Order: sequence, then C-alpha cells, then structure tokens
Amino acid sequence: MKKLTFIKAALIVITIIPAISYGQNQLKPKADMLKLIDKNFTDADKQYRLLIHHVPLDSMAETFEHNKWVSVAANNWVSGFYPGALLYLYKATKDTTLYNEGIRRLKVMEPEQKIDSHDIGFMMNDSYGVANQINPNANYKQVLITSANSLSKRFNPIVGCTMSWASQPGQFRVIIDNMMNLELLMWATKVTGDSSYAKIAITHANTTMKNHFRPDYSSYHLVIYDPATGAVIKKQTVQGAADESAWARGQSWGLYGYTMMYRETKDPKYLAQANHIANFILTNPNLPADKVPYWDYNAPGIPNVERDASAGAILASGLIELSHYTDVANAKRYMDVAEQIIKTLSSPQFKAKAGGNGGYILMHSVGHKPKNALVDVPLNYADYYFMEAMLRYKNLDKKAFLQ
Ligand code: GLY
Repeated sequence: MKKLTFIKAALIVITIIPAISYGQNQLKPKADMLKLIDKNFTDADKQYRLLIHHVPLDSMAETFEHNKWVSVAANNWVSGFYPGALLYLYKATKDTTLYNEGIRRLKVMEPEQKIDSHDIGFMMNDSYGVANQINPNANYKQVLITSANSLSKRFNPIVGCTMSWASQPGQFRVIIDNMMNLELLMWATKVTGDSSYAKIAITHANTTMKNHFRPDYSSYHLVIYDPATGAVIKKQTVQGAADESAWARGQSWGLYGYTMMYRETKDPKYLAQANHIANFILTNPNLPADKVPYWDYNAPGIPNVERDASAGAILASGLIELSHYTDVANAKRYMDVAEQIIKTLSSPQFKAKAGGNGGYILMHSVGHKPKNALVDVPLNYADYYFMEAMLRYKNLDKKAFLQ
C-alpha cells in the first residue's frame, strides 16, 4: 500500500516537474527575435510620440480611420488600452514622455472604477493594473479593488456568470470576452484576502467552459441565460460571421482567459481547456500560414476577407504564456506560432510605415464586421496585446516573465 503511494507520488513528480521546469529553464528567446522586437519598440516609441499629439485631454485614442484620429470617452470598453499601451512602451523603452502621458490619462479613467460594465476589467486592469505593476501604490490598488467590487455586482449566482451588456427582461447575456475580465477579480482576492472575488471568477470560468464551447472547442460568442433558472436560452454570435462560426477574436479571448485562470488557480482543467482551444486554432484549416487569423475562422469568402491583427496579437500573447505551463512538445508548437505571429505583424503587411497609420503600430484589425464598424483599421488593443506579447517574449527565460 505504502509502496503504491510512493510510486503514485513519484509519477506525479515525474509528470509535473518537466512542465514546470520547462518554463524556467528551457524557453529561451532567440537572438533574431529579440533584435526584431527591439526594433519594433524603437519604431513604436516614435509612432506613439506622434499619436499623443492627436488625443483630446478628456478622452482616449482608439483608432485612425479615413485619415482622422478617433478618440473615445473613458467609459468606452477600449479606453484603458491607450494608457496601457503607453505604459507597456515605457516598460520596453524607458521613455518617460510616454510614461507621463500614460499616468496623466489614468486620472481621466479614475471615475470609471464605479462604472456598471462587464468590460471594467479591460478598462481598469489594462491601465491601472499595468501602472500598479510598474509602480505599486495605494491609490492604484484602491481604484482596482473598487473596480473589482463593481464587476462583482454583475454576478448572478443562479446563472453562475457576470452579465454582459445591459439586461433585457428574462435574458442574461454572457459573451466569451468576459473571460478577460476575470483577471481583475483574481488579483483582488490576492491583494485583499477576500475569497469572494476569486469564487465569482472561478464560477464564471466553469459556467463558460460548460456552455460556451462546442465539441471541437471553438466557442460561441454569446450565450443567453434565463436569469431566474440559469437555463441556457440561446447560443449565438454578435460580432462573428454566423451563430455557428468561430469569431477570431473570441477564440483568442478564450485561449488567453483560460491560460490566465490556470496561472491563477493551478486547476488542471483550465490548462486542458486552454490546450484544447489552442489546438482548435492551430489545426484550423483557415488559419493562414503566417498565423494572423482572418476576422472569423468561418468567414464566407476566405481567403478574400479581412485579417484581424488584434486576434493575432492576443493569440501570440496567450500562447507565449501557455508555453510556460505545458509539456515540451506543445510549448515548442505554441512558441513557433507566437514567433510567427510576431514576425508577420512586424512585416510591412501589418506594421505601419514610420509616421503613418496615425501613429498606431499595427494596421488591419477588425472591430465589428457585421455592423461594418472599425473594419480594417488600427485599433489600440491590437497595439496593446502586440506589445504585451513582445514584452513576454523578451522575458521568456525569466521567472517573472509576465512582469
Ligand atoms: N469586447 C469586444 C470585442 O472584443 O470586440
């Protein structure tokens, strides 16, 4: 009996250790990639030094469309990516002009800590959260905790999810994107010791795992629940090509979200889910050879349809993190794709010429194709996740590779 227990323990050690130690010992950045990334950051710095002169003081840069700079109010779901991108650039270049611009914009974001929005994690974690990583302080922490409280209020224990958008009578809507907002809740539990935030995040992740995914691990964009019973009423899309299609950014949100939940909980079912999603994406016959997805994996008209640089950037960042938690064979597979995405996004096909694209780094993202809104334009979150992916790559062999 004792011997059996010992053998079991040994087996666990043998199977777990290589995955853990791989992250710390064997993932090494390649010299040519580091050179490319350094050049990208130098170029991006110049671009953002141009962009900052075209953003009204009370708003946030979103895109550059029809030769015009477009900014959004602080309550827009993309607002936090502008200060976040500036702060990521500062991390890479130590350019204090951009740091100061990013920090100044946080003041504009501050009232949003009380906003009633499922996107508050995007807005606050990707702005205040990044600022707090660079320079932890009590004010940032308080804003982030209040933000987590605001998000918690959207949780319905009967459904087991936080609600997306506004509710219609008898309908509780949840989009796959909400997975990204859970990081704020996991952080809040670590900082306050109050487990209620993490419980909400874990319940949301479990419910979404049960209802959002198809047998091939692609995900629906939207699941509509009955708020009184928790029953699923409908599964459909809003931003994708069809209810049964795989909207590209949604697949990236899912992969990134479950990878993050594995990091925060060490629950192997989240790691398995992230691996399954990665497998769906990486084996998809409609994923181009250069690995930057079309806007929907089932978009009618492929290959003559728009790519979505944002979906590619989020995917690269998520895969780099996932590589640290998986076995050697998958880690190599994921890193190869992440490197390819970074290379593709660094090519003239996606990376803007110096002084062009309104100062954004990347061209060719898709916001909301069915509404014909923000199609084939630069988007602040494409830049944000591209920089995040490159920072993660630069830190590949460091223990704190996410910092
Ligand atoms: N959260 C909305 C989007 O990904 O477009």
